[in-house]
Amino acid sequence: MSVEFVDLLKKYPTGRRENLIPILQEIQDLHGFIPETAVSAIAEYLDIPAVKIFSVATFYNEFRFNAGGKYHFQVCQGIGCQVDGSERIRTELGRLLEISPGEITADGWFSLEWVPCLGVCQEAPVLSVNGEMYAKMTPVKVKQMVEKLRSL
Ligand code: FES
Repeated sequence: MSVEFVDLLKKYPTGRRENLIPILQEIQDLHGFIPETAVSAIAEYLDIPAVKIFSVATFYNEFRFNAGGKYHFQVCQGIGCQVDGSERIRTELGRLLEISPGEITADGWFSLEWVPCLGVCQEAPVLSVNGEMYAKMTPVKVKQMVEKLRSL
């Protein structure tokens, strides 16, 4: 097992699969994403096949398997958000940041992802920034948000 995760995993009883989500959350909080070495370590520690861990983690939008930007944008592509204009949000972010979904800006500040329903459809169209939800987004609000983050 990767020594990198031994101390973290030791906080949880071994072989207890119900601890998978809290462990993934803790690793993501620490690293900003779930490294492949972490998946292997968790698989061994909880006795769960790595493919099952990927399957569970990809069900939740909050988990990522690669490093994102300092500010990670997730635009909801669920039906409710698409009906209310999430495509315009994604297009505006792509234009402002000059990246496509799955990419990160050259300076490492921003990354963009197009994700399934974020679970707050009544607030459509929804944008998540580092896991924080922003409701009823418009291209204007997105532009103001990017300008504000760039000035920090
Ligand atoms: S469709 Fe976007 S939050 Fe559900």
